[in-house]
Amino acid sequence: MRHLVSIADLDAKDIVAILDHGDRYWSLADEPIKKLTSLRGRTVMIVMFESSTRTRTSFELAAKRLSAEAINISGSSSSTTKGETLLDTGRNLQAMHPDAIVVRHAFGGAAAMLAKTAKCAVINAGDGQHEHPTQALLDAATIRRHRGNLEGLEVAIVGDISHSRVARSNILCLSKLGARIRLVAPWTLLPRGIELIGGDLTRERVRLCPRLEDGLDGADVVMMLRVQHERFEGEAPRFPNTRELSRTFGLSERTLAYAKPDAIVMHPGPINRGVEVSPQVADGPRAVILQQVSWGVAIRMAVLERLIVGEPA
Ligand code: NCD
Repeated sequence: MRHLVSIADLDAKDIVAILDHGDRYWSLADEPIKKLTSLRGRTVMIVMFESSTRTRTSFELAAKRLSAEAINISGSSSSTTKGETLLDTGRNLQAMHPDAIVVRHAFGGAAAMLAKTAKCAVINAGDGQHEHPTQALLDAATIRRHRGNLEGLEVAIVGDISHSRVARSNILCLSKLGARIRLVAPWTLLPRGIELIGGDLTRERVRLCPRLEDGLDGADVVMMLRVQHERFEGEAPRFPNTRELSRTFGLSERTLAYAKPDAIVMHPGPINRGVEVSPQVADGPRAVILQQVSWGVAIRMAVLERLIVGEPA
């Protein structure tokens, strides 16, 4: 593994190896001194052309906890606003010899484009509607922590599937680990053919559910997604208004009751409180939303370490 662009490039064995690697770093957060040395002297550039809170911070922390230098560059303050192309920006960053470039961009394919010519590791931190592989890995780690194993689990992914890179990476990642997936949304937010993105595997494991109650019925995991309003520009309206969508597809204590009594509630963040998830559920005992954030640091440590120096002995 030289880059991490897409979950499609990983098989189940690779994914489990990354999750096991991440497990080593889960408890580091409880130590008074949260510092290891395996990336001492290494440089990680974190380049965000789209807004980010969790992903940026956790990549930076992950790099620093392994003693790498972490440098943050945001799109709005970079020279792309002066007309520089993504590839030229990439070439210039490469000229400073980083060991890894973490990149988020609105263009699906941005990370793959950089990886093609890069001499260092390229990690996709979200490319348009395409993929967000480290999010899926940290989600799988969170589920594994609560259920031990993903084999046979019923996972409902609910909301704006159309515009969600988190959904696409999770469909691939969770189905490779043996879960079954229900994609729950009005037809207008369920892209045609989405169940085929992983070929025969996902054709078998993914079910489309245009009714929330059916989608949640007996689910072990409920993963809620935000409506990605920023990606709707120029599109015909997909639903009458957000309030109606919230009423028919929002997760509340009432609708969560359709899922298994011990179902966990996930969300990649940022949550829109009272829209896709009620405050009672978001702050309730079934929510593992903040644990996902904690796993984000451990998994990103594992990914950076594997790509830069390999797996520790
Ligand atoms: C997600 C993203 O950026 O794709 N957030 C994240 O990385 N945790 C989801 C979103 O923005 O809704």
